[in-house]
Amino acid sequence: MTAQIIDGKAIAQQVREQVAAEVAKRIAAGKPKPTLATVLVGDRVDSATYVASKQKACAELGMGSVSHHLPADVSQEELEKLIKKLNASKKIHGILVQLPLPAHLNEERVLSLISIEKDVDGFSPINIGRLAQKGREPLFVPCTPYGCIYLLEQAGVPIEGAHAVVLGRSNIVGMPAALLLIGKNATVTVCHSRTRDLPAVVRQADILIAAIGKANFVRGDWIKPGAAVIDVGINSVPDATKKSGHRLVGDVHFEEAKEVAGWITPVPGGVGPMTIAMLMKNTLRAAELQDK
Ligand code: GUN
Repeated sequence: MTAQIIDGKAIAQQVREQVAAEVAKRIAAGKPKPTLATVLVGDRVDSATYVASKQKACAELGMGSVSHHLPADVSQEELEKLIKKLNASKKIHGILVQLPLPAHLNEERVLSLISIEKDVDGFSPINIGRLAQKGREPLFVPCTPYGCIYLLEQAGVPIEGAHAVVLGRSNIVGMPAALLLIGKNATVTVCHSRTRDLPAVVRQADILIAAIGKANFVRGDWIKPGAAVIDVGINSVPDATKKSGHRLVGDVHFEEAKEVAGWITPVPGGVGPMTIAMLMKNTLRAAELQDK
């Protein structure tokens, strides 16, 4: 069997076009331009690259963005002051604090300060708490897990009643992905570094979400025939045939897994482009919520 490749780049592009069309309609109707404030603390190159991509996407979709770059040694008090200012600003609809923060800062306090109407990352304890509870709706769903579920739905993968296995329990991907899948009536197993006989657990998965950050970790013979494989990993491995000397691979051994799976996302071009597309969707939603 050769899996159907889920084209995240094309699906993300469709989401971006829908958002851009809605933004244009808002602006034609005299409503405020959805505007995202990004907060970057310190000089991590990866974080700076992600934030720059998020701002570029805002511009491409006709949305506004305001960037705040604070030094690595900023105090908790200064950072909290900025969040409060952004919460109060009528011109800002969404607030994104790029993670991870430097170790001296209290991430939980910062995230809980973001007003839930502006929490476009969906990381505030209130949004996550609502995601975890039956019959409650978060205002925003974290962007990467939201993108994973969107890809499954667009590909026509049945979720209700399926056994979903999530590899990784991070606050940003694994845990919210598991909560979303439970909300869609999947039976969910969350695996982590202490899980016993991981291959045996993964073999039970109708849906596998891999988010552990280990290159080519999941092998083809771990995959249940016909399963849907969503690979969140973005890992750089040496490759002498490339000019850069490296290439990106996922957490799943793609070449092996695609011979067994029913559906699979490639790396790059799978989940990656969805994170920013869903952030743009959330930022538009934030502006719509604040119209009222
Ligand atoms: N760091 C890694 N992924 C993310 C994300 O989706 N949002 C934020 N704010 N930080 C991240």
